[in-house]
Amino acid sequence: MSHAIIELRDVTYAFPDRDATLNGLTFHLHHGEKLGLFGPNGAGKSTMLHILMGLLTPDQGEVELFGVPMSDDKAFEAARLRIGFLFQHSDDQLFCPTVLDDVAFGPLNQGLTRDQAAERAREALETVGLAGFEERIPHRLSGGEKKLVALATVLAMKPEVLVLDEPTTGLSPEAKERLVEILKGLDLARLVVSHDPEFLAATTDRLIAMRDGRIRPGELKPHTHIHVHEEGDVPHQH
Ligand SMILES: Nc1ncnc2c1ncn2[C@@H]1O[C@H](COP(=O)(O)OP(=O)(O)OP(=O)(O)O)[C@@H](O)[C@H]1O
Ligand SMILES: [Mg+2]
Repeated sequence: MSHAIIELRDVTYAFPDRDATLNGLTFHLHHGEKLGLFGPNGAGKSTMLHILMGLLTPDQGEVELFGVPMSDDKAFEAARLRIGFLFQHSDDQLFCPTVLDDVAFGPLNQGLTRDQAAERAREALETVGLAGFEERIPHRLSGGEKKLVALATVLAMKPEVLVLDEPTTGLSPEAKERLVEILKGLDLARLVVSHDPEFLAATTDRLIAMRDGRIRPGELKPHTHIHVHEEGDVPHQH
C-alpha cells in the first residue's frame, strides 16, 4: 500500500523545437485515489498522460508504475496491461477492422482466449450501451460512438486503475449520464482529465490543476449544487 500506483518524478519534456511543455512535474496517484485533472488547453495534460503510459519518453525525470521503475519498453508493456487508458482522440485508440476486434484486443493481450476476450468485449459494449455494434467498422462511427467504443476497450480490460483523457467529449447527455453511473459503480483508483467540472465532481474526489508545466495541488474539492426553480425540468444552463 505504501507505493503509489502512478508516480512521476521531476519530469521535463519538450516537443522538438518548442519550449518545455512539462517542466519538473511531479505527480502521484495512490491506491483508492480518485483525482480529477484540469488546466487550460495546451497546458500539457495529454502529454503527461502519454509520458506515464510510455508513449513519449521524458527528457528528464522518472516514471514508476505499480512501484516498478519504468526503465525500458518491456516494463511499460507489462504495466500497460493493468491500466485502463482512454486517449483524448478516439482515432488513436481504435485501429481494428471491427468494433469487436478493437474491444477484444486488450483482453487478448492480457492472455485471455479468443472466446473469453470476445465475451468480455460483448459485455463491455453492452455496459456502454452499444450492444449490436460488434461488427461495425470503427472508423465509420460517429464521434460519440467512437468514444463509447474506446471506453468499452478500457472497461473490457478490467483494469486496476483508470487514466481517462477527456472521456465525455462528444457524448450526448444520456451517454454522459451512463458513463457517470459506470464510473461511480467502479471502485477503482483513477486520474480523469476533463474540462467538465460537473463530470469531475461526480466521478472524482479531489481536483488538481496543471499550470506552467507542473501540477499545482488544488485546494478545490469538486461538488455539485442542487437547486430547485420553476421550469427546472427544461434543459437550461446557469
Ligand atoms: N506532437 C507534437 N508536436 C509539437 N507540439 C505538440 C505536439 N503535441 C502537442 N503539442 C503541443 O504541446 C502542448 C501541450 O499539448 P497537450 O495536448 O498535452 O495539451 P492539453 O493540456 O492536453 O490540452 P487540451 O486541454 O486542449 O487537450 C500544446 O501547446 C500542443 O500544441
Ligand atoms: Mg489534452
